[in-house]
Amino acid sequence: MSINLAHSADLQPHNSLAIPAVAKVLTEVTSLDELKEAIAYAHDQKLRILILGEGSNTVFTDNFNGLVVLNRLMGIEVLKSDSNNVTVKVSAGENWHKLVEYSVDRQWYGLENLALIPGLVGAAPIQNIGAYGVEVKDSVVQVDVLDIATGLSKVLSNKECQFDYRDSIFKHRLADQVVISSVTFCLSRGQNSKCNIAYPALASRFSQPPTPKEVFDTVCQIRSSKLPAPQDIPNAGSFFKNPIVSAEHHSALAKSHPGLVSFSVRDGYKLAAAWLIEQAGWKSIDYNGVTVHQDQALVLINPQRRSAQQVLKFARAVQKDIAAKFSVTLEIEPRIV
Ligand code: FAD
Ligand code: EPU
Repeated sequence: MSINLAHSADLQPHNSLAIPAVAKVLTEVTSLDELKEAIAYAHDQKLRILILGEGSNTVFTDNFNGLVVLNRLMGIEVLKSDSNNVTVKVSAGENWHKLVEYSVDRQWYGLENLALIPGLVGAAPIQNIGAYGVEVKDSVVQVDVLDIATGLSKVLSNKECQFDYRDSIFKHRLADQVVISSVTFCLSRGQNSKCNIAYPALASRFSQPPTPKEVFDTVCQIRSSKLPAPQDIPNAGSFFKNPIVSAEHHSALAKSHPGLVSFSVRDGYKLAAAWLIEQAGWKSIDYNGVTVHQDQALVLINPQRRSAQQVLKFARAVQKDIAAKFSVTLEIEPRIV
């Protein structure tokens, strides 16, 4: 066997909320052959498999009684390039932010709004990562996967991924069924390219059409000013999705809460959950060290490295309070294992 297996492995360094947990076995794979070997080992030992990138969107509720596979497949390959577009295939273990930097350095347009999102490329399609008016689905051409049960490779087109707001087929029918091995992106380049600065926080910053590097720098600056780095304060980014409510519900809420922050979307209104949580007073509430961040109420923080039970107790209390005060259901965004 060429893969290294660590038994009773500490998972605290592998989840950004720093929740204490242990994996029965853990391995790191750097090639497709190693990945297949890891899967064969798990089948042989009758172990469940959990694929992890950087664990920045994963919450362990208990020790993991199976095999954790850290996906570290590396490589960036330009498949096609002309004066308007570039098609680039990126292995799942590449760091997301480094890929954004790589694309910006080459003056490719499309990923700049997604700067500083933690995690690896392989996890990006799982929840269709998004920020500042752009989602990864806007540039994904295809996702290559390995089927865990059969060991066969498959390709999913953008449409087959069923992308939606913080959602995709990988959170539903294909959850824990496949390993994403690479993601192929189509980015634009050249004189006809334009950055997407429709998001209000970006639009107000530019009077001339910006370059990808200018948008990248601005996004990095805005994010650094309000989002805590997990290595300093353990957190998993937004702990809840922004809820979408009907036009009727929205209009009733806007009447009773004149400051309500919301955005019109295809099927109703998206509410700023951060605003709801702040208005409900959660910035000054602390449950045994678990609280929300002072600059971003949607980010639940765990500075004392408490257990998942304590983190989830706080999250449930927030959900219950927001339901009582606004009749709105907050759905947890990170993956609960
Ligand atoms: P992990 O947590 O390791 O995995 C997440 C899920 O994907 C798990 O279910 C895992 O099993 C599965 N998975 C991972 N890799 C693979 C693979 N190769 N094949 C199959 N399944 C896999 N998200 C946003 O959308 N927008 C933001 O602006 C944003 N900001 C954030 C800010 C902070 C400070 C933090 C901590 C998180 C933020 N997030 C944001 C969430 C997080 O960055 C993303 O969800 C990211 O894609 C997670 O990457 P990861 O490698 O850490 O995934
Ligand atoms: N606000 C408050 N109180 C706060 C923070 C924000 O009232 O403490 C209000 C402000 O009015 C602000 C509005 O909420 O204008 C929205 O805040 P922000 O622009 O910070 O964005 P968000 O809706 O809270 C979403 C994503 C983030 C993404 C940003 C930027 C979700 C669940 N979250 O946050 O994604 O980075 O927009 O586009 O959609 C993540 O998914 O982990 C994540 C961090």
